Amino acid sequence: MTVLVTGGAGYIGSHIVRALQQRAEHVVVADNLQSGDAGRIGDATLVQIDLTGPASASALSEVLNAYDVTAVVHMAALKRADESVGSPLKYYRENISMLANVLRAMDGTAADKFVFSSSAAVYGNPPEDRVTELTPAMPINPYGSSKLAGEWLVRDVARASGIRAVSLRYFNVAGAGAHDLADPVPMNLVTRAIDALERGTVPQIFGDDYPTPDGTGVRDYVHVEDLANAHIAALVYLEHGQRYSVFNVGTGEGASVREVLRELRDVSGDDFEPQIAARRPGDPASVVADASMIREHFDWAPQHDLRSMIASAWAASQHPASLHPVSSKVESDTS
Ligand code: WQD
Repeated sequence: MTVLVTGGAGYIGSHIVRALQQRAEHVVVADNLQSGDAGRIGDATLVQIDLTGPASASALSEVLNAYDVTAVVHMAALKRADESVGSPLKYYRENISMLANVLRAMDGTAADKFVFSSSAAVYGNPPEDRVTELTPAMPINPYGSSKLAGEWLVRDVARASGIRAVSLRYFNVAGAGAHDLADPVPMNLVTRAIDALERGTVPQIFGDDYPTPDGTGVRDYVHVEDLANAHIAALVYLEHGQRYSVFNVGTGEGASVREVLRELRDVSGDDFEPQIAARRPGDPASVVADASMIREHFDWAPQHDLRSMIASAWAASQHPASLHPVSSKVESDTS
């Protein structure tokens, strides 16, 4: 099976590429390298392409045919929920157009299995703590809305064509599968906290007056390696599964900000005292997955606990990835 991973040079995408390579699958990565790093993809074939371009669908179609691709994992997207609030047009245009171009490119090729990178952000501020796939999706920012709209597009294309697809709603991803695969952007709790320590300051807690056991926000953290393996399990599921389905990807366990920072204190040996800051607008108190569906239908269960996530993220931050020469064939975009 040859799998094409869009956005495969990014943080999560490169973990999926590595998991596929460990299963001796041939991997093609389609990435514009704007935020990704070609050094993260090993011996995968790299096709540098702008998936928003008008000719990208035909260019990508040629790539799918040239490498006999049978499955596509679509990771390429803008993903900053906070940034999306001020740039809705950019988020809808880029995220939906890239997705539409990839789906269009698959038409008429051997690529008939599709895994879509969606997000728990589609739920917004869920009314109940434990979120199932049937919890009403009410996104509260354009990023989450663009992911929900993307799910509808995938669903409708799967229903109208021979493509079989799943949408995976990621909860809070953390950790690193190897020292050279750290999350390079300090955008979320764990990476921001590590970045603060490296800058000689202390992590911030956005509000400690939430209706949670210790007053700080509770989330469902999932190790990026477990998340990558959920994509492998999804590809196997698509060999025989439903034409289209949606799965939460989480552990089903909640952890508070204080619990995460306590793990960071332990693994870093830095006995820091976090700074209490104001609540971040739009943050729900608690969002934890009901992950029973994915466990029921996929051969998958999370293997890593919170300590493993924080320890691996910390270890990777202490061994900044050395720059690798591009070790794979790079084809320029023909669009
Ligand atoms: C987690 C908790 C904060 C930073 C993100 C993405 C979302 C989706 C899921 C991609 C919250 C608190 C954070 C800090 C803090 N990912 N916090 N201090 O907002 O749950 O959602 O992951 O699809 O799009 O936004 O993640 O890591 O920003 O926040 O106290 O410096 O940590 O209030 O309770 P979030 P996060």
